Amino acid sequence: MKGILLAGGSGTRLHPMTLAASKQLLPVYDKPMVYYPLSTLMLAGIRDIMLISTPEDLPQFRRLLGDGSRFGVRFAYAVQPKPEGIAQAFLIGKDWIDGQPCALALGDNIIHADHLSALLRAAAGRPQGASVFAYQVRDPERYGVVSFDQTGKAVEIVEKPAVPNSNWAVTGLYFYDKNISRIAPQIRPSARGELEITDLNRVYLESGMLHVEKLSRGCAWLDAGTPDSLLQAATFVQTIQSRTGMLVGCPEEVAFRMGFIDADHLREQALSLGKTELGRVLLELAEGEHA
Ligand code: TTP
Repeated sequence: MKGILLAGGSGTRLHPMTLAASKQLLPVYDKPMVYYPLSTLMLAGIRDIMLISTPEDLPQFRRLLGDGSRFGVRFAYAVQPKPEGIAQAFLIGKDWIDGQPCALALGDNIIHADHLSALLRAAAGRPQGASVFAYQVRDPERYGVVSFDQTGKAVEIVEKPAVPNSNWAVTGLYFYDKNISRIAPQIRPSARGELEITDLNRVYLESGMLHVEKLSRGCAWLDAGTPDSLLQAATFVQTIQSRTGMLVGCPEEVAFRMGFIDADHLREQALSLGKTELGRVLLELAEGEHA
């Protein structure tokens, strides 16, 4: 399975911070925002990753991430000339996807949960259909909202409804089977002029092929798209890391734990981070001091 990391958009809710810098390169505590969804894709076992961003911002992502060998993955890069919708990622990436199954992670979404890797690998391993994750939120009207019948089956999915039928928001992480390259070109722009990911998900839902996994209360899903949520995300990462000594959203660590890189490679990465706390924790991991 391949994976797209979507890191374009206009980031208007973070102006003026995003007037001259990409939202997904802003720091979330001790790492650039894009590291978190990158780690999520890697935890799903995905090693072929296309990063899509604006023409202005793409060079900075290349500078940060390179060819991916640091993390034991392969990066491809593509431009989205204008923010014409999340589902456009599959049109931009069509040749690169090459008829294979493909996941999509939004560059400003952070998921942290116990057993996340198992959940993600199950989604990536499903041979048919699409898999998305739903999370209970207080403000569902900001998101795609999914409703369930009494048996727990997903029956409806609506983008930013004025009056939501449930408080289950669809998170910014989607897994699609190989039909995605055939289905994505069928989507038409919505009233707000965007190719909506919710319309893509509805095609799968209506053919009985959308698997919706409810994330439990023990999971955290954060999107860092407003000043408040950016600060909350940073505080969340700081709290977990300083309390447990474990890292959140660190691609070097994920690469090591997933077997994409070995201890020597991890040590090299840790040393390149100099005297940072991140470098120190990664060095300990490379020396086998963490289980
Ligand atoms: P949004 O948060 O919906 O949009 P945005 O990032 O442009 O921000 P704002 O609403 O403040 O103007 O986008 C969600 C994610 O998807 C985010 O990581 C940006 C990305 N995105 C694209 O890369 N291209 C697009 O066309 C759209 C709509 C979003």
